[in-house]
Amino acid sequence: MADPQQVLDARVRDALGAAFGAEYRGLDPLIRPSSFADLQANVALPLGKRLGRPPREVAAELIGHLDVGGICAEPTVSGPGFINFTLLDDWIAGEAGDLLADPRLGVPLAAEPRTVVVEYSSPNIAKEMHVGHLRTTIVGDAIARVLDFAGHHVIRDNHVGDWGTPFGMLIEHLLDVGEESAGAQLLRTDPNTFYAAARAKFDADPEFAGRSRERVVKLQSGDPATMRLWDELMELSRAYLRGIYRLLRVTLTDDDIRGESFYNDMLADTAAELIAMGLATDSDGATCVFPPGFTGRDGTPLPVIIRKRDGGYNYSTTDLATVRYRVDKLNADRAIYVVGSEQALHFQMIFAVARLAGWLPDTASFEHAKIGLVLGTDGNRLRTREGDTIKLSDLLAEGLGRARGILDELETSAELGPQTLAAIAEDVGIGAIKYADLSTARDSGYVFDWDRMISFRGNTGPYLQYATTRILSIFRKAGLAETDAGAPIQVTAPAERDLALRLLGFGAVIAQVEQTAEPHRLCAYLFEVASLFTAFYEHCPVLKAGDEATRAARLALCAVTLRVLRAGLGLLGVPVPERM
Ligand code: ARG
Repeated sequence: MADPQQVLDARVRDALGAAFGAEYRGLDPLIRPSSFADLQANVALPLGKRLGRPPREVAAELIGHLDVGGICAEPTVSGPGFINFTLLDDWIAGEAGDLLADPRLGVPLAAEPRTVVVEYSSPNIAKEMHVGHLRTTIVGDAIARVLDFAGHHVIRDNHVGDWGTPFGMLIEHLLDVGEESAGAQLLRTDPNTFYAAARAKFDADPEFAGRSRERVVKLQSGDPATMRLWDELMELSRAYLRGIYRLLRVTLTDDDIRGESFYNDMLADTAAELIAMGLATDSDGATCVFPPGFTGRDGTPLPVIIRKRDGGYNYSTTDLATVRYRVDKLNADRAIYVVGSEQALHFQMIFAVARLAGWLPDTASFEHAKIGLVLGTDGNRLRTREGDTIKLSDLLAEGLGRARGILDELETSAELGPQTLAAIAEDVGIGAIKYADLSTARDSGYVFDWDRMISFRGNTGPYLQYATTRILSIFRKAGLAETDAGAPIQVTAPAERDLALRLLGFGAVIAQVEQTAEPHRLCAYLFEVASLFTAFYEHCPVLKAGDEATRAARLALCAVTLRVLRAGLGLLGVPVPERM
């Protein structure tokens, strides 16, 4: 385990046990970055209080029992009782070398793998995905990839909206235009237009609206002819999603789709059990659960409606059935719902009801990974100039076009053929959009700004992609495959030290993303690594290094950097082109 923070954590715990007794091993050593050294341990402050002794004295005693030989210089006490650690250059170099040889780059496999449902994307079928769905898709995919890599059993779950009232209207419209017609094919290419046409007819034509309502009843009773049409609608929509996911390099497949319809025949039972347990009561003709602790502004209890006045079940009933299925059938001990933050209250209440009902055991952690809004540069929800929602396919096409424009201006592009250039433009355009989505804390809104996200400067996808291709070009010039760079790493110059030390933190940052389901932490880390690499490259000549050993050592450091950047971008789902 290379992460210095974790290494020192273990050593200080040993010292705590040796100095004060085994029961003190469990104390958090409070290892933090230090402005006077590399790291500091703050544990002597709370421990001094507990023992009724001056913290500086406690710190000195701890140091007496601390074995950090070969890792740090002799630790010192500073301020009110901080223990300062300065890592040895040779230790950093040795650990960085180990990283190069480690296929997992210092990321341990989970000792106790969990079964984790990661629910993401989840668009409403037969409606164009909007940028909000783009964000849940991209962030969710990164979370799933990281948990996979950490060794958990990940179940990807695309909880599409594929059931309910609008489907009566959509099926009737499909019949009207003809199943084999170009109009029906719109579902594959431009589902929003299909939906809008159905909606307009529904609002304008009472006869069509009537037919649609009858169709809903047929759908819910499982009428075979209606189900066949519904299947048809689904297949066309799946084709649309496949195309989007392929372009976005999102790992969702058809098999991951478990939409609302999937839970349909579990709804009656779910409602009945809540009634039988005495948790659900009748309120104005609707059946509701009032979980304790949820009240409106005026103090009145808030309901979770599980059956509407007309007898139909709703979104909440489906979500309760979904919790049960995930716990009982999928054996999930963690579930991460990557959904817009506007649904926060909904999920809090669903989880509360599920706990009340005993469907969600304490051992399972069900979390809402909140996703903030995507805003236009005017600070409002992102829309077209005309005020319409932006079609995802248009947005992606614009990204590719802009990336191509930028690449065409680069001198180096001239040597690449049009096909290579198009492939790179796709990587850069998609990478820019995905990275912008990922690098902002997922629960805060972010401004969708082409110029910023596609820039080669700053914390952007193209900057990080460029950093990797720059390292690749060093290896091309050296006439060496990056996989063959295995010389011992040296840490002599400060820029070398900073870079190597940061590379050791890859495992720790992956562990953080695993726990918090917050991929932006990985983005911030990769940006730091790339920036430190830039500084290293400026200050430490690689190919023109003074002697052969230094040259080989620096090439090895380049290789670790490349591997960390590639692995990190891979876990984010950001494509990494070979050249740019
Ligand atoms: N289909 C919903 C929407 O587009 C999102 C589904 C969220 N997931 C859930 N389990 N309710 O808003």
